[in-house]
Amino acid sequence: MDYLPIFVNLKEQPCLVVGAGDVAARKIDCLARAGAKITVIAEQISPAVTTMQTTHTINVLQKTFTLEDLTSDFRLVVSATNDEATNRLVAKVAEQQKILVNVVDQPELCSFIFPAIIDRSPLIAAVSSGGAAPVLARLLRAKIESIIPPAYGKLTELASKFRKPVQQHIQHPKQRRIFWEQVLQGGIAELVFAGKTEQAEQQLQQKLAEQENTIPIGEVYLIGAGPGAADLLTFRALRLLQQADVVVYDRLVSPEILDLARRDSERIYVGKQRKHHTLPQESINTLLADLAKSGKRVARLKGGDPFIFGRGGEEIETLMQQGIHFQVVPGITAASGCATYAGIPLTHRDHAQSCTFVTGHLKNDTVHLNWTQLAAPNQTIVIYMGLVGIEKICQALIAHGSPENLPIALVQQGTTQHQRVIIGTLASLPAQIATLDITPPTLIIIGTVVSLHEKLHWFE
Ligand SMILES: C[S@@+](CC[C@H](N)C(=O)[O-])C[C@H]1O[C@@H](n2cnc3c(N)ncnc32)[C@H](O)[C@@H]1O
Repeated sequence: MDYLPIFVNLKEQPCLVVGAGDVAARKIDCLARAGAKITVIAEQISPAVTTMQTTHTINVLQKTFTLEDLTSDFRLVVSATNDEATNRLVAKVAEQQKILVNVVDQPELCSFIFPAIIDRSPLIAAVSSGGAAPVLARLLRAKIESIIPPAYGKLTELASKFRKPVQQHIQHPKQRRIFWEQVLQGGIAELVFAGKTEQAEQQLQQKLAEQENTIPIGEVYLIGAGPGAADLLTFRALRLLQQADVVVYDRLVSPEILDLARRDSERIYVGKQRKHHTLPQESINTLLADLAKSGKRVARLKGGDPFIFGRGGEEIETLMQQGIHFQVVPGITAASGCATYAGIPLTHRDHAQSCTFVTGHLKNDTVHLNWTQLAAPNQTIVIYMGLVGIEKICQALIAHGSPENLPIALVQQGTTQHQRVIIGTLASLPAQIATLDITPPTLIIIGTVVSLHEKLHWFE
């Protein structure tokens, strides 16, 4: 982080604004809204600032700024003049006195910057690009404004009013968190948004009275994290991820997706790599159950879809046996994600009437698959975990009747910025990739649909 975002209490704190043009007026307004005691120094006072004197309590001094004006009484200073020398002087003196300084549009002279603000007081959100792209920050603010209705301020006030009583009534922090999540995302919040604050208060009171002080029961969310790109997660996956107390995740879950989890959640890596299992599957099953039994809400994040070569079934079987609540959230499986991002429609009707997902995992150095069935025409085959056995796979298909020139694609790190698609035929691909540096994960797609990549690829 280039800047630490903090919210400063400026109520009744002396602040200085040098300059009194339109830009200064905006900064004065901002400081005034935070309750600061504002002094303005400028040779010329714009009509905007003159008008402000009637609506805000500001001390306006019409004079040239001098060194002596910036005393250590001031908490912060803003310089918004057109005069480069004055701006530099203000920045220099402020720096010497260790007073926070902002020089408008000159980030190199600033020790703090103004963010773009979404004001739903007492709820405030601030967005900043650190001076790199103010317009982008403003666009983002507009987006956030559209999803935070003005009534969020009222909702925050309600939460603030009940904060102490809830703290006293519900001792267990985890139970308290769940209580608030239900209030702030459920019917009570809707009442506030509809302007029925009194009714919302009554319902909150009633809900609180009904709360019993018990350790909350944990649960598990088995979540498909998709093939890589974070914005391919489902809304439900995101919501549950942000509720979870613990995140148990695999190797294929990207750091961008983990970043979306609740900041204070515990993270447990149980990733699996070929021939290198960090935790055996049975231990993962037990871990999930034990975490839930200790009252935690556990997000079990798995690459792609949990039920496609993901051993999700085994995990929920254990949970079921032990009577633990859970839900499963489907994710975009690698076949779907990689094929789409590679411009290969898996079941294009001119090419394939079916599509089969198989694992190319080697057992005793051999790929065990129904080759006769897979070598039949008019179908697409998608092979997970097939890179190591690719030569054996191509040979077996040719031996069982597939044409040597049948198109085949190897998709590396599909849907991510590192995606690479290598196209060949059953006869050529193993040699093509032998000398390349291939980074897993990779997916293999076989069938004449692969030929469509040339025309339909759109992502790279
Ligand atoms: C253990 S399987 C898990 C599959 C996952 N449950 C799914 O639905 O995609 C892991 C294999 O999925 C494939 N895979 C997953 N993500 C991929 C990606 N982004 N690009 C290419 N292959 C991927 C690779 O073949 C990898 O070896």
